[in-house]
Amino acid sequence: MDKIKDILPAVILAPMAGITSYPYRLLNRGFGCDFAFTEMIDVRSLTYNSLKTKAMLAPQENDSPLGVQILGEDESSLSQALDILESYSFKVIDFNAACPQKKVTSKGKGAALLRDLKKLSRLLKILVKKSKVPATVKIRLGWDESNSVSDLAKEIEDTGVSAIFVHGRTRMQFYRGSVDYQAISRVKKSVSIPVIASGDILSESLAKRMFDETGCDGVLVARGALGNPWIFKRMKLFLETGELAVAVNREEVARVMREHFRLYTTFFEERLSIVKFYNFFMWYTKFFPRARTFRRKLMYVKTAKQMLEIIQEFSDS
Ligand SMILES: Cc1cc2nc3c(=O)[nH]c(=O)nc-3n(C[C@H](O)[C@H](O)[C@H](O)COP(=O)(O)O)c2cc1C
Repeated sequence: MDKIKDILPAVILAPMAGITSYPYRLLNRGFGCDFAFTEMIDVRSLTYNSLKTKAMLAPQENDSPLGVQILGEDESSLSQALDILESYSFKVIDFNAACPQKKVTSKGKGAALLRDLKKLSRLLKILVKKSKVPATVKIRLGWDESNSVSDLAKEIEDTGVSAIFVHGRTRMQFYRGSVDYQAISRVKKSVSIPVIASGDILSESLAKRMFDETGCDGVLVARGALGNPWIFKRMKLFLETGELAVAVNREEVARVMREHFRLYTTFFEERLSIVKFYNFFMWYTKFFPRARTFRRKLMYVKTAKQMLEIIQEFSDS
């Protein structure tokens, strides 16, 4: 089995449900993203042979190295799902103990497992035992502030996982408040396996701050990459040389929007491509003047041709 340190680079595209599809990963890889994750996959949907899940996992061209992230709470479904995953060539299998959404935690999955460490340990031990590639886990700092994150990290390390991804917020914080650098640093000091930090990696300077203040081995880029694939190259440049790349102009943004949308229409049906691209249009354009005027117009976009026209309108404005 390859060593986790040889597999994971310093900057990684985080798993994001509804976002990190194949065409999205491909776009980011073109901008220097060296490792990506799939969207979160529920182990039960894998065992039910769901067509949607199969499509999400289908091997694709130029999409390596890739990690898969799984979600679950039931030991036998996890075990069955791992049997199925054996035929894929993911480099890492990551277990989600971080998702804060009520529809997930109410079923005992995601961050809910941070309140049931015995169960989380049992699930992780199954993963470690059955996986042919390094097994990792993504956690938050706890359900709320009442637990000790160092104890949590040590207990997780004892399961034999190869690395811990930690989002520096508790479940009760959802995405609110700022990330807790000190708590991530405590995680790093408590274990000897690599710790990859997540939370507010929104710019190259915030990535550097995360490395400096926590001693982490890597960072996950999540919201920082939405409408901003340039972030990967910018981060590499800044972390390696301390240089800040110049801001991208309107023409470059429009060029990448076209490329992003083209990748979507190649992979998804026209209607779905448009729906998935709405938010990206906002994210790409949010720092430009009059971005709001496009918000209203976007609601009337119903065809790929109209989407390309509105991107052109943005470029010319
Ligand atoms: C739209 C969206 C979807 C997400 N989906 C997942 C997911 O499926 N699995 C996961 O572990 N984290 C998920 N996350 C959390 C991110 O991976 C990351 O930990 C979090 O956004 C904090 O990083 P940031 O502050 O840099 O965005 C998601 C975040 C966003 C914004």
